[in-house]
Formats: sequence, structure tokens, C-alpha cells
Amino acid sequence: MKKSTSLFLLAAVFSTNTLFAQQKKAASGTDQKMNTFITNLMSKMTLDEKIGQLNLPAVGFDVTGPILSEGVDEKIEKGLVGGVFNTFTPQAVRKLQELAVTKSRLKIPLLFGYDVVHGHKTIFPIPLGLSASWDLGLIEKSARIAAREASADGLNWTFSPMVDIARDPRWGRIAEGSGEDPYLGSLIAAAMVKGYQTNSLSNKDAIMASVKHFALYGAAEGGRDYNTTDMSLIRMYNEYLPPYKAAVDAGAETVMVSFNDINGVPATANKWLLTDLLRKQWGFKGFVVSDYTGVSELVPHGLGDLQTVSALSLAAGTDMDMVSEGFLNTLKKSLQEKKISMAVIDLACRRILESKYKLGLFADPYKYVDEEKAKTEILSQKNRADAKRIAEASMVLLKNNNQLLPLKKNAKIALIGPLADNKRDMIGNWSAAGDWKLAISVMEGLKNVAPNMDITYAKGANLVDDPAILKQINANGADIVADEKTPEKLISDAVSAAKKADIAVVVLGESAIMGGEATSRTNLDLLPNQKELLKALAATGKPIVLVLMNSRPLTLTWEDENIPAILETWFSGTESGNAIADVLVGNYNPAGKLTATFPRNVGQIPLYYNHKNTGRPYDGLSNEKFKSRYIDSSNDPLYPFGYGLSYTAFSYSPIKLNKATLAAGQTIQATIEVKNTGNFDGEEVVQLYLQDIYGSVTRPVKELKGFQKIFIKKGETKTVTFTLTEEMLKFYNSDLKFAAEKGDFNLYIGANSRDNQASRFTFTK
Ligand code: BGC
Repeated sequence: MKKSTSLFLLAAVFSTNTLFAQQKKAASGTDQKMNTFITNLMSKMTLDEKIGQLNLPAVGFDVTGPILSEGVDEKIEKGLVGGVFNTFTPQAVRKLQELAVTKSRLKIPLLFGYDVVHGHKTIFPIPLGLSASWDLGLIEKSARIAAREASADGLNWTFSPMVDIARDPRWGRIAEGSGEDPYLGSLIAAAMVKGYQTNSLSNKDAIMASVKHFALYGAAEGGRDYNTTDMSLIRMYNEYLPPYKAAVDAGAETVMVSFNDINGVPATANKWLLTDLLRKQWGFKGFVVSDYTGVSELVPHGLGDLQTVSALSLAAGTDMDMVSEGFLNTLKKSLQEKKISMAVIDLACRRILESKYKLGLFADPYKYVDEEKAKTEILSQKNRADAKRIAEASMVLLKNNNQLLPLKKNAKIALIGPLADNKRDMIGNWSAAGDWKLAISVMEGLKNVAPNMDITYAKGANLVDDPAILKQINANGADIVADEKTPEKLISDAVSAAKKADIAVVVLGESAIMGGEATSRTNLDLLPNQKELLKALAATGKPIVLVLMNSRPLTLTWEDENIPAILETWFSGTESGNAIADVLVGNYNPAGKLTATFPRNVGQIPLYYNHKNTGRPYDGLSNEKFKSRYIDSSNDPLYPFGYGLSYTAFSYSPIKLNKATLAAGQTIQATIEVKNTGNFDGEEVVQLYLQDIYGSVTRPVKELKGFQKIFIKKGETKTVTFTLTEEMLKFYNSDLKFAAEKGDFNLYIGANSRDNQASRFTFTK
């Protein structure tokens, strides 16, 4: 080594140590201190080191995309990495962090990201299931527990919440979000950000949230993943953007860009989206990360070669490049060729350094590395107990004729189905660090909860028989092996078991791996072999309870007509079996409500409750031809948004308003009495919808504007009051101005988006 170089290195090490010391002092300081610290640090950084901060390779345990990063250790030592993802555990994180803070010239600590989507190691229901709880407190708690476990396991950044509005259950990623409603989706987005980040990123168990996928990813054409989106601004602003904005308003430190293009410009290179809307209109202050190879995917999107698209993407507002290394390998050249400015590189680098500062990583790069904490925090009894409670709250009773459920604890049942004695699938998709072997199966759950139940088990069918699906999902780790019995024998054994029992509990659905990324389906029926089993069981005449596990709304028209009781359990996490068993025997009275419409058939999709009326609305009754309708199907869903039953029943009184007119700045109190008329105590999600009858633009037939989840003892009545405000009436008009328009409004309060009491008031301005 030349003397001059070693002297230079010594000086650099010395000054970085001084920088650490400075930040230790400044850790609780103001923005001013942070700015000074970062300006000072950046003045010492080379161009390569600045570009290095924008680089996010994948290292470690999981493959979540088509390419794996290479040579990462050496790059970390050279200061060419800003963070890594897919590495966790204190030991593994320490190893990489050590490289950064002992071997790299400026010792800048790394970020450690991961898809902690519905729990880290204690796994909660898939997000679509979580949203069905309509319980913001429990949802926030799930994020809090996830953050506590993840932060104890070395992580400081989660790629969650996923808040894409999804109206298309063909799209497998509908599982990862909160369904179709912008109002509920916004509240959940904010609750999750709060749960992950707490009130300050400097807290030891706070991790950064990354709201994703910005934007409109859920509107992919045809429900085919990664596909094009093309949407009017008015629809975007009113229906798709609110949850992202809510997460940003709640302080989400990072935003992840979506894969899709938006009105012709892929999100990853969309300056309007990432700069004009996100930063200038919404005031976002954190940093923006691309999705997995999102930058290099701009090449097949057709925007240019890697150098061109990397420059485009950075200039549009993408600060960090996940996996592509387009930034790392081409930005310097683009700068030399004057295709980008130093200012944009500096800005992106500064934003990433700011997040590291806010996390307190400069003061303590090992803040998240604590072996002892990991041992006590992760998968604790307490976390598992919370996971069970949260799983119970996510379950939706779709049907319960003749009060077939709850089961008697000493019932004689046949427990049937490929998901009945299954652990592998319980934790669902995107349960990245979860260990399915720790999950509780339905069989185990029933034995735990009702030891006196007489259970005969029969598998009845393979989870998946369809060779095309099997090939696809087994290639991605589904590990489905056909049973040694023939399909016919599996069914006949199940039929014999059902005949000997009083009730058949049949657990069917998808393989967990059939949901999440890259799992679009064109047919949403139960898989043919499972349906054949169900039909054979129905033919026995024995009462059947169908327990469903799936990542998306399915088309269950036949099941609804032929099966007396149906319980939707999604994939409900580590405690699945215990939670399902508690619900089946009535230890917990189900209260979940759907957050995504269940269509009757795939042809109805997209089907969502807050649709427009059209000029020729169909009332569902007459047989007139020139109406907005199908000739071969009803317009109505099988199960509407907000729907879900209870073991008890609730009746709703007419709505009372304290006045019929709302003036600007004033409120109306809308009151309704809800009576528990059944035989069980229970919770009900009382929902408030509004319809703006005449507007300057067409308005939805109804929109959720409030809800309250209340507990009512059997025989009791509770009064529920909603305060109506001008704010609830506001929408973006054709000038994208957010304002309420005067006129009449319909008001609906009830048990779901279909069954409710109606009233009306006037907004006078
Ligand atoms: C997904 C993201 C995820 C990322 C990192 C991508 O394929 O779209 O949701 O956060 O991988 O694992």
C-alpha cells in the first residue's frame, strides 16, 4: 500500500470515528444536527460511495425474485452497498454489519430489510384475513409484535404494509393487502405504520415501514401479476391512492415502487408519481426504494437500455435500487456523460443516510443485534396467545344454516380434507421467516380445545391434483406429493368416515403457495378434485361444515347452495388450528367481515360494492333488456363487502338523525340501536355508508365512511352513534379538488354493504 493511501485511510477512519462520536451526541437532536452530520459525512464520500448507498442487494435466506445478488461481501467492504435484505438473525446481521462498519472506508452502517408482512416468526393471518377483523387495535398489535420480533432478529426495515386496493381476486396478491375499500384500507395502513415504527424510529424496537406497492399495483389488467394499469386521475385519487397517502401521513419512512406501468409510464420511472405527487403534493420526506429488479425491468417495459432506465428511474424519484445494480453499474457513466446531475445522486444518498440516522444506526450500528433479546422476544407464549386471538378475529362465518355451528365439544365428527391435518400451509404466503413446522393444524387444534371430541380423520383428496398447477407450485416449493391412495380411494374412505360420524368437518381450499406474488388464477372455484370430494360427501346427506383456507375470494356458488355451514379462515398463521377449533366449538363467536367481495363467477370480476350506478342501473328483478346487466348471471355478488355472520343474530332499529340538515362546520348525530336477538354473546361490526345522490361527477352507489366493532351480550341492545361531518362527504372532483358538494345524501347503517337501514340528510354548505 502506498504511504499516501494509507495516510488517507487513516485520516478517513479517524474522521469517521469522530463522526460516530458526534452522532452519539446528536442522536436525540434536531433535524439541524442531522443535516450537519450528513453534510459532513457526504463531504467525505466519493462518487462511488454515494452511488453505493443507493444499492440494495438480496443476501441470505430467501429468494423473492428471479435474480440473486452476487459478491455482496466485497461490495460492502468497498462501500458499494446501502443495505441488504433477506438476511436476519442477530448472528447473520452482525456478520454483514461488521463488514460495513469495520472494513468499509467510511464505516457507514447498513440497513437490513425483510418482508415482515404478517408477522416475523410468530405468524398472523394473511393481511386479507387480518383486515377482515375490522379491528384496528388488533391489527396495530400484530404489526407491533412483528416489529418487536424482527428488531430482535437484526432487522430494521420491513417491506410492509402492502396497501394496494384490489378488486380482482384473480390477482394472487389480493392476499397481501386489505381488500377493496379505500377508507378501511387507509385506516389499516396507518395502524400498521404506527405498529412498526412506534412514535420514533429511534426506539429500540421500532423498524421502518415501507408502504407498497406505489402505486395501483392491484389494478393490474386481467388480474395478471405485473400487468399494465391505466386509470383516470379521478379514480386514482378517490379510490386507489388514499391508503398510500394514509401511510405516508402516518409517517412511513420509506415507499416501495410498484412493478406496473401507470398510464404509459412504469411506476419505477414515473416522475409524476414519485416526485410531483408523492413529494410535492403529499410532502413525503423519506426515501423511495424500487421493487425487486424494478429498475432493470424498465428495459423489457421498453424504456431503454440499463443505463438509460437507471438514469430515468433516479431522476423520477427512485432513491434505492433493489437488486438490479443498474444504479451501481451505470450512474457514474451517466453523470460523466451529463445524462444526470450530481444533485440527484446527492439527494437520493442524503435521504438514505437520513433514514439511517433516524434509526440511530450511526450511533449504534448493532442496535438491532441482541442475541438475548431474540431468545426471549421471538415466538414467546405471549406472542402466540396474541396470534391466536388475532386469528380468531379474522375468521368470517359465511353460512350457518340451522345453527349447525358451533359444534358440541363431545361431537362425533369426521375430519376430512387435505388441509385438515396440515401444518405446511397454515402460515400462508409471504410468511418469510415463519416456520410452518411450528404451526398448529386443525386436527391438533381440535384435540387441544375439545379433547372429548370423537374425531375420525380422512384426507379425502390431494391438496392439488391438477398437473399444470402442481407443476407450477411445486417448482416454487409447495412440496405437494400425491397420496399413495388413488383419488377414488381417498374419496371413498372419506365418505365411509362421514357416514359413521354425526357431522363432517371438511377443510378445503388452496395451497398457501397459490396466493401471493405471481399466482394469478383464471378459475376461482375450489380445485376440481376437492370439489368432487365435497360433492361425494354432500351426497351422504350428513351435515357438513366447510372450513375454507384460501388467499383470495373464491367462487363458491355451488357450495353456498349445497353446504349448510361455511367458515372462511384464510391462512391464519402459527396458531391457525387452535383458533379455528375455538371458533368451531364456540369458545369464540366469529365476528369477521369480508373486505373483498366474493363473486358468483369469474365473469363478474371486477366486482366491488362501491361501484357507480350507470345510466341504466339494473334492479335485479325486472327482465328488461336495456339495462346494465348480464344475460347469464346476476349482477350481485355471492357474499358482499362487509358481510359475515355470527353464532348469534343482531337486529337493527331504524336510524335516527338529530337533524336533517348538515351545514359546513357542523355535525349530525346518526343513532341506531343494535339488539343481540340470538343465543350467544357476540361482536358486531356496525357499518356506516354514504351516497352522494347528485354530484358534479358520477359518485359511487355507496361508500364506507365509518364503522364500530361492538360487543353485545345476548338479549341486550346497544346504541351506536356516528357523527356525520362535512369531511366525510368530500371527494376529488374533475379538477382534483377535494371538497364536499351541497345536496342530498343517502345514509346506510347496517351489518354489511347490502343489508342496512337507510335514511337521508341534506348538506347545505
Ligand atoms: C415483491 C415485494 C417484496 C420484494 C422483496 C418483490 O418481488 O413484489 O413485495 O417486498 O420482492 O422481497
